[in-house]
Amino acid sequence: MTTQTPMIEMRSVSKHFGSVIALSDISMQVYAGEVMCLLGDNGAGKSTLIKTLSGVHQPTHGEMLLDGEPARFKSPAYALDAGIATVFQDLAMVPLMSITRNFFMGREPTVGWGPFKRIDWKYADRIAKQEMSKIGIDVRDPSQPVGTLSGGERQCVAIARAVYFGAKVLILDEPTSALGVKQASVVLRYIAKARADGLAVIFITHNVHHAFPVADAFTLLSRGGSLGSFRKEEVTREEVLNMMAGGAELESLDAELAEFQRSDREKKANSAAADQPTPKADGGNVDESAEKRLAGGY
Ligand SMILES: Nc1ncnc2c1ncn2[C@@H]1O[C@H](COP(=O)(O)OP(=O)(O)OP(=O)(O)O)[C@@H](O)[C@H]1O
Ligand SMILES: [Mg+2]
Repeated sequence: MTTQTPMIEMRSVSKHFGSVIALSDISMQVYAGEVMCLLGDNGAGKSTLIKTLSGVHQPTHGEMLLDGEPARFKSPAYALDAGIATVFQDLAMVPLMSITRNFFMGREPTVGWGPFKRIDWKYADRIAKQEMSKIGIDVRDPSQPVGTLSGGERQCVAIARAVYFGAKVLILDEPTSALGVKQASVVLRYIAKARADGLAVIFITHNVHHAFPVADAFTLLSRGGSLGSFRKEEVTREEVLNMMAGGAELESLDAELAEFQRSDREKKANSAAADQPTPKADGGNVDESAEKRLAGGY
């Protein structure tokens, strides 16, 4: 694997916004047929990293290589032409436009010639329907607005489009964050398929249950810096979870939860004691407050 040329590589890439250092000295390699999960807390620099890769931002320092060749993209359109397709969570689709229009956006097939040239909607509809059915989504009418699809299906239209137009690198910024379990699994299955088709995939998620099953490697960002890349064999799910949330925060959360449990147990023990018939010799008022609590329903 190490002898292979990475499909996408970052070498000591930094990105500054004025005095804000959003990325500092990031190196990362992603191979064809692999999924790299980008992990890190809010504000760690994940979106900035993928925006730099996809031509939205220019790196301040460092270099990027696509399939071994130096790459610098003036805009996302240039990155797309070079084979880097990025799916942004909210901007991926236009809800009021049809599935077919969204699928082909800007790359509509045409028939005819010269002044008689027009978009070939019949062909476009057929391809859109066919590509969606390849991933198990049965679109009855590809002219229906994308807004009528579920969130997961919409993400799949965006991914299907990238694969159909021959992307070599697929970048997904939190494609599953707003989805339920079933819809997320549709998207995850499709990510796995894109990997099987030989694409290099970069996948951002906050959910370890989404990251772990599809990832081949993880890169952990923290405050704009990289804490390293790890192969999946090298880490456990718990370690990845720790990396995602920040170990220290989880530990303090653990301590807080343990404290909740302890006070819950205490409360239960108290109310159990209050349930016991109180010996008259004690004056019958041993735990009035517990009795009141019970009577009040809490
Ligand atoms: N255009 C910009 N101008 C100035 N600062 C920016 C810009 N874009 C991002 N930043 C800063 O860079 C840092 C990283 O932001 P980024 O959006 O990359 O984080 P993220 O890891 O994607 O977080 P999240 O998980 O919340 O999406 C933040 O401190 C942010 O304020
Ligand atoms: Mg982000």
